[in-house]
Amino acid sequence: MNHVRNCFLVFAACAVSVILTPADADDPAPWQVPNDVNFAINEPDLYAWVTFVALNWPADLEAKGPDTAAAFGVDGPVVWETWAEKEEVFLPGAPDPGDWEDIGISGVRPAKGELPTQQQLIFAAEPVPPGSAYNQNLEVRMNKSTFDYIITNELYSIEGQQAMFYTGNQIGFPQDSIEVKAVWRSITEAEKPRYKWNVFTDKDGNEILFGLTGFHIMSAVISNWFWATFEHEDNPYRRGIYDEGWMLPSVDSVACPDQPVGCMAAPTGLGLEGTVWEHYRLRGTQIDYIDDNGVPIVLTNSEIETGMQTTSSCMTCHARSTIGPNRNVAMEYKFGADQDDYHPSAPVAMRIDINRFFDNGQVGGYVGVPQDDWYALPDTGAYSWPGYARMDFLYSLYSADYRNPSVPEKE
Ligand code: HEC
Repeated sequence: MNHVRNCFLVFAACAVSVILTPADADDPAPWQVPNDVNFAINEPDLYAWVTFVALNWPADLEAKGPDTAAAFGVDGPVVWETWAEKEEVFLPGAPDPGDWEDIGISGVRPAKGELPTQQQLIFAAEPVPPGSAYNQNLEVRMNKSTFDYIITNELYSIEGQQAMFYTGNQIGFPQDSIEVKAVWRSITEAEKPRYKWNVFTDKDGNEILFGLTGFHIMSAVISNWFWATFEHEDNPYRRGIYDEGWMLPSVDSVACPDQPVGCMAAPTGLGLEGTVWEHYRLRGTQIDYIDDNGVPIVLTNSEIETGMQTTSSCMTCHARSTIGPNRNVAMEYKFGADQDDYHPSAPVAMRIDINRFFDNGQVGGYVGVPQDDWYALPDTGAYSWPGYARMDFLYSLYSADYRNPSVPEKE
């Protein structure tokens, strides 16, 4: 009785208590990043969307976390944009990158003409169309758990990575580690209301408007990581150097419960409605190498895995992230007429190839269950280790530099 009277007397307090009914109180807040094995395995598509909303929640820049007072979809930096960027972690000369609090320049970074590693090979020979210098901008960011593990184990240097190889220590990121890879293209003012947008400053100080076109998420919630990828709804219809349309259908059981394969919609009920985020599509999720029939699972993002969409398996390709000993090219020095082709040079860390090179000259990815022989070191009799060390699916670690510079070559 008392309670009811309080409701009438103190209307505001009563309204709050009505919203937080006991049933709702158990539901996690929408800015809470899920970290639940059963949820990830049993409802991967929903897990992907819930993670998507939490990572794209408006950011509190000071706290480097969600601004719980902000409405989802408002303009400005979002949570993952406060995370550490690959370039801030893997520095030239591999020094300790410093404190988490000091890095993660949210939303403001120089535009680079750089292509994602797996695309360099494909597009190296392509002419760049006029005006496309800012066509695509890629960023890779990691959350604090990922960052802390890299610092603790000195994985920001090649020497630190090789120490794991030499000692046989397994690289295993904490279960709440998350990395994202975002791809942007330059957009017009008119396109702004339909894109998560950002302004990047190039090296000449020009500010350029970019819209988010693709977004990869990998979460260590399950041991082979949970994989999800999203794209802007415009992507299938665009034609450009990175826009070849969709070669695989989306699979989204949340937005399209009756017909998940070929889904072209965004889900309702997650707060996307009326925000830029309703223009993004889940292309699919991956929680295993193969399906129940043993068929390799492929999942791709047309803006990121451009040129290899049909041979793209997030999990399989990333399973090839490895580190080995240094390979001394000088060992291959040859005497004779062609000796100029074999300049001795400083040894480099051995890693297995990211890409698969087909006989017809095409470049693609590996699919299916990783094969043991992938990880074998070359059979030269020179190596007594069982094989390459796997680096827990993270390819950003390939950006590490050597801490110790090589001895300068003789004049
Ligand atoms: C053919 C190989 C290949 C495939 C297929 C692939 N990736 Fe990657 N991925 C890479 C490489 C190489 C990098 C490193 C890029 C860089 O550091 O700039 C990377 C980086 C990433 C990152 C940044 C974190 C890190 O350290 O690796 C994420 C997240 C990611 N990929 C997710 C995905 C998802 C999701 C899929 C599937 C839809 C996928 N990738 C498919 C090769 C691949």
